[in-house]
Amino acid sequence: MNYKQVIITRHGGSEVLQLVENEIPEPSAGEVRVKILATVASFTDILIREGLYPGVPKPPFSPGYEIVGIVDKLGDGVSNFELGQRVVALTIVGGYSEFICIAATELILVPESVDAGEAVCLPLHYVTAYQMLHRIAAVKSNERILIHGAAGGVGTALLQLGKLAGLQMYGTASKSKHQLISSLGGIPIDYKNEDFVQTIRTLTSDGVDVVFDPIGGGHLLNSYKTMRRGGRLISYGVSAALAVKQGRFLIAASTFALLPLLQIIPDNRKAVWYNIEALKKQHPNWFREDLTKLLNLLAQKQINPIIAERLPLAEVARAHVLLEKSAVSGKLILICNDG
Ligand SMILES: NC(=O)c1ccc[n+]([C@@H]2O[C@H](COP(=O)([O-])OP(=O)(O)OC[C@H]3O[C@@H](n4cnc5c(N)ncnc54)[C@H](OP(=O)(O)O)[C@@H]3O)[C@@H](O)[C@H]2O)c1
Repeated sequence: MNYKQVIITRHGGSEVLQLVENEIPEPSAGEVRVKILATVASFTDILIREGLYPGVPKPPFSPGYEIVGIVDKLGDGVSNFELGQRVVALTIVGGYSEFICIAATELILVPESVDAGEAVCLPLHYVTAYQMLHRIAAVKSNERILIHGAAGGVGTALLQLGKLAGLQMYGTASKSKHQLISSLGGIPIDYKNEDFVQTIRTLTSDGVDVVFDPIGGGHLLNSYKTMRRGGRLISYGVSAALAVKQGRFLIAASTFALLPLLQIIPDNRKAVWYNIEALKKQHPNWFREDLTKLLNLLAQKQINPIIAERLPLAEVARAHVLLEKSAVSGKLILICNDG
């Protein structure tokens, strides 16, 4: 039996994404074959596609950072899952596919009442947002936070989880996305037409307690300036690298060079890097605990992932173009199989 998957044939633009057919994989010992219901097209996949993300295979391979699906076949020695159960996982790559074989230890059960399309929004964006808020910044009720890219996948998750934590929230975004940010409890800042450092100073007088910066490069310096004493800057992306044609690796490298420099300024403010994969390797139990907690919050309707569109897997190139144009508020779900 054959199955379809989307692969990256080489690093480059959205034209390198290709739909191919292969023979369906068999699970090895300790693995489960999952029939994927949905995955997500995310900005991180674009960095992977462009060759700007370390630690992933060389092309050709199938990207796709997170999946929701149905347990389809058990490998030898797997006894804690049953056929037909719904599961989610952080796959890093391999999710743009109708089937995947994955270690049983990576799977987490999805509560019955939860919609599959909403569940797949959790492993990357919501876990990132939750861990940055609670594991890294250790936010306290009433603290002020500044979220860059607030209308995006991680940004909207930060707004929803920040509201639950009782935070005062400011979010940068294009003007057309301000209504969404207000509806999620944030005060929008039009970073394209305003100096956000000045706006934060005007709105708060002494600044914010935590800044979440996925932009990287020199942008980190301005983020740092918005913090009051005791402030924590969480750097977690290098989106700025995609905005330029040349010097992309320089922007990525300058992000990692700036962070240790900011850390040694003796002004009672901190700057740290967050990476979901690194923290998951260091604390696999945190990842499981946090994703399970988020699935429960979803079942209780305390969080509500913003889904911009659900597209068939074959339309993945269009999804990447929309993300590259910043034309998306929330998440783009790719449907791999009908439930
Ligand atoms: N370290 C980790 O573990 C981790 C985990 C998940 C994601 N990430 C990274 O986080 C970043 C965001 O991911 P995402 O999936 O949330 O992306 P997304 O859904 O595409 O949202 C990002 C949004 O940022 C906005 N933006 C672009 N430049 C901006 C700027 N200079 N200032 C403020 N906003 C700006 C864009 O909207 P507008 O400009 O139109 O407002 C864009 O829609 C990516 O770099 C991704 O790789 C890192």
